[in-house]
Amino acid sequence: MAAAFHIGGRFVAGRMSMLFGGGNKGGGKVVIKVDGKTIESSEKSVNLRKELIANGIDVYPLRAKITGNCGGAGICGTCAVKVLDGMDKFNPPSKNEQNTLRGKPSDFRLSCCAKVSGPISIKTKVN
Ligand code: FES
Repeated sequence: MAAAFHIGGRFVAGRMSMLFGGGNKGGGKVVIKVDGKTIESSEKSVNLRKELIANGIDVYPLRAKITGNCGGAGICGTCAVKVLDGMDKFNPPSKNEQNTLRGKPSDFRLSCCAKVSGPISIKTKVN
């Protein structure tokens, strides 16, 4: 599915699969340890950003609150998290996510592009 976004004065277009990542293999229960809290989901797979926000976890650093963010399109990079444990429970990063995270440590993922299918531990606001 094609998509187009107007972000920060730029018009960005691409395939939905490029923007939001590929498929995800199912797994066990999703348990997210994040910044000293634990979130549990009965779903087999969750979008990390949506799950964090739904549970009151702020994924955006102050900078993103001032300058804005892409709203989950995988372009701004402000929703990045550091994966402390459970990297194998994430979907593989899409080319778009890899491009957005270029130059960042290999244990960073964009929470908006990440689908999680098992227990993980992460740290937010790493940018
Ligand atoms: S919200 Fe912009 S990259 Fe995730």
